[in-house]
Amino acid sequence: MDIVWVASEMAPFSKTGGLADVAGALPKALAGRGHRVLAVSPMYKDVPEAVDTGIKVIVHLFGHDHLVRYFAVDRDGVRWVLVAHSSFRREGIYGDSKGAYGDNLFRYALLSRAALEAARFVPGLDGQWLGDDVVFHANDWHTGLLPVYLHALYRPAGVLRRARVVLGLHNLGHQGTTHAEEFGGLDLAGRWWGHLDFHGYLNPLKAGVVTSDALVAVSPTYAKQIMHDQGFGLESVLRARRTDLIGIPNGIGPEWDPANDTHLPAHFDVDHLEGKKACKAALQRELGLPVRDVPMFSMISRLDYQKGVDLVQSITPWLLSNDVQLVMLGSGSKEYEAFFRRAEQRWPRQARGWVGFNEALAHRIEAAADVFLMPSRFEPCGLNQLYSMRYGTLPVVHGTGGLVDTVTNASPGRDDATGWVFRPHEVDAFQQAVGWALLTLTRYPAAWAKMQRNAMLRDSSWDRSAALYEAVYGNVLARPV
Ligand code: ADP
Ligand code: GLC
Repeated sequence: MDIVWVASEMAPFSKTGGLADVAGALPKALAGRGHRVLAVSPMYKDVPEAVDTGIKVIVHLFGHDHLVRYFAVDRDGVRWVLVAHSSFRREGIYGDSKGAYGDNLFRYALLSRAALEAARFVPGLDGQWLGDDVVFHANDWHTGLLPVYLHALYRPAGVLRRARVVLGLHNLGHQGTTHAEEFGGLDLAGRWWGHLDFHGYLNPLKAGVVTSDALVAVSPTYAKQIMHDQGFGLESVLRARRTDLIGIPNGIGPEWDPANDTHLPAHFDVDHLEGKKACKAALQRELGLPVRDVPMFSMISRLDYQKGVDLVQSITPWLLSNDVQLVMLGSGSKEYEAFFRRAEQRWPRQARGWVGFNEALAHRIEAAADVFLMPSRFEPCGLNQLYSMRYGTLPVVHGTGGLVDTVTNASPGRDDATGWVFRPHEVDAFQQAVGWALLTLTRYPAAWAKMQRNAMLRDSSWDRSAALYEAVYGNVLARPV
């Protein structure tokens, strides 16, 4: 199949969260299964290894012609296509310290158009042009307008006539909603407004939901929840498309493997855990914590309401009344960043709250810690619980979305548990689950070792999910246009 995978962030070129990890890994897994893949994302900054393809297109948006250039990195069987335009060259990806950029609708409409044009003008890594039956895999609100443009501007002109669009749903909490007046800049005839209109506002995610051929949420539980009460207003729109909506869980890319993770000071695997101890000691040294074999709790997160950082904040005094350490990494809301700083000041020998984005440190924390805290209010899939399990760091998670689908709760009589799943989303339930984790770690070493082994052996490879995506693509291609 010919697949154009499009996302607003793509690791290692750009990243704010899990979408980038998925965008950096799934195209590879698809290419590994024999498909021709262009993976398209904006070029937010210089990428030294990217080659200028010399291919340029002009896209008309917001009353002007915009020249877009394509750079390419050919690696891992995928042509990574970086879309160069001055509007992507900013300090942040979606915004800066003053907030979200005011022209994001323009920037991502441009990305959507550039991805459609890429299918026409950028050959695959093998030098061959993409065929007529191309599948676009758009993601989240940023590329929600891609199918609209396909229907409105391309198909009527006899271009990309047989192309199909699958929309990945990673987070209904962000829909790109903006004022209706902006519609005028999108270069779409008035009759398309109905697809974008949501209660009088322009909603690119809704537009993608109603015009794509198929919808894939990033876990089976999230696929159900967004039709029920987690759709941030889009529940009934999603229900109307229920036969075209499924959930496929995310996997783990090869760079998250404790046996050869380049960010780690020591390596380990399920049968050789000595390296994990060395990672803990090294992290304690790095962060200036006492170097001791003491239970280490951890959290790595965008500091957003979604992630339930407030629950971690609430249990911290109790948690640190035990002989344990707590290491947190995150950035986002000022309120939670302040909590990180206060925790360090109040418990200098026990707590560290590293404010900022630090990929290498994220790997070292996953490797060093014993327990990972992930009390998300909602979690479409979640990757950190998967990384944690692979690194033998048992997760405590709220029973929602992909966390339910990927973590097996420790309950009496089960010998396949990989972590603790609590409900409801309240401090008491969370504290109790964290208490169980601490008790198991300190008093029941055999039970701990068994859970750790289960967690590390869990199959989170991308290949299984890639096969499911392949079936979705095959299915939409088999339908008449
Ligand atoms: P989400 O996409 O909602 O943020 P995921 O669990 O799917 O949640 O993915 C989060 C990704 O972002 C993981 O790779 C995680 O390690 C990374 N991450 C989040 N915050 C930071 C940070 N401050 N520094 C480094 N990596 C981070
Ligand atoms: C979103 C979700 C997260 C998911 C990620 C990748 O950012 O919040 O749960 O893992 O996308 O699909």
